[in-house]
Amino acid sequence: MSSQEEISKENPPSEQDAAHGAVVTADDPFADPGLPAHQPRKQDIDERSAKRSERMVAILFMVSMLATVAFIASFVAFPVDKNVFVFPLGHVSILHLSLGVTLAVALFCIGAGAVHWARTLMSDVEVADERHPIEAPPEVKQKVLADFAAGAAESGFGRRKLLRNTMFGALALVPLSGVVLLRDLGPLPEKKLRSTLWAKGKQLINMNTHEPLRPEDVVVGSLTFAMPEGLSEHDENFQSEIAKAALMIIRIQPDEIKDKRELEWSHQGIVAFSKICTHVGCPISLYEQQTHHALCPCHQSTFDLSDGARVIFGPAGHALPQLRIGVNADGNLEALGDFDEPVGPAFWERG
Ligand code: FES
Repeated sequence: MSSQEEISKENPPSEQDAAHGAVVTADDPFADPGLPAHQPRKQDIDERSAKRSERMVAILFMVSMLATVAFIASFVAFPVDKNVFVFPLGHVSILHLSLGVTLAVALFCIGAGAVHWARTLMSDVEVADERHPIEAPPEVKQKVLADFAAGAAESGFGRRKLLRNTMFGALALVPLSGVVLLRDLGPLPEKKLRSTLWAKGKQLINMNTHEPLRPEDVVVGSLTFAMPEGLSEHDENFQSEIAKAALMIIRIQPDEIKDKRELEWSHQGIVAFSKICTHVGCPISLYEQQTHHALCPCHQSTFDLSDGARVIFGPAGHALPQLRIGVNADGNLEALGDFDEPVGPAFWERG
């Protein structure tokens, strides 16, 4: 007698196992517990209960739709800086609170509606299936398709039009929440990137001494940084304006300037170029007086400041913009206008 036969004789199936189809054999001593007898739900036998569940699911989907509408209305109606006191959170932005609550309700109600529909109205018959090879034979595929069709029919997807349509409505509206939030990517820059604070008659201010620059302050071989007259480090918009208007001032012997326009836009060999790298906008801070090369420390773009600041090395796409300068009645250096092209990367402008 084999040991498996001994086991099956020593552990005969219980009455309960036998009732549920448990089978113990000499080859397989572990009983298959089978499936418990199917218990019909209230909704399966009582049409009024089924209707109640249907109404509940529809209400959940409709609440989701209302919450999505409320989300959009909150976004439009509430300013971001208005706060309310909410226990236990304390003072919170009413905009953020309302967006969070409405979106949570919209998503929760879709989920709760789907779960309630599945638990109370869709078929709850449990089906046991044997493991089978991954490649299903044709008859199994046909059976799957037939089961799918039967499941679709049993779910009431086609028959319960109210549920189906309200669910579609809720699912269609919920993505609108994300679309509305795209507005928070910020206002478009419009013309702001095309101009700087430089204008005709604005004096060049030394960024170290905060004094107007005079031609005699700029000696051959030196590198000086300048900003427009009237801009203060205490101004609220200082960072955004200096990011466009910062200048590099150098002096080159006029006969060493190779670019004709550069010479015309200079004053006695003093030239003013944008300090903002045309690659991705780092401030340029290294200058080699022998070669007149300016080097951007970020990705090593190198510009020849004696030849129109053209790019001689690195990833920058175009030359540094030059500011036309002169001298005013007080003998101070001044701009003769704004840059004639956008400063910085400007890939958005050049396409
Ligand atoms: S930002 Fe200047 S080289 Fe990249």
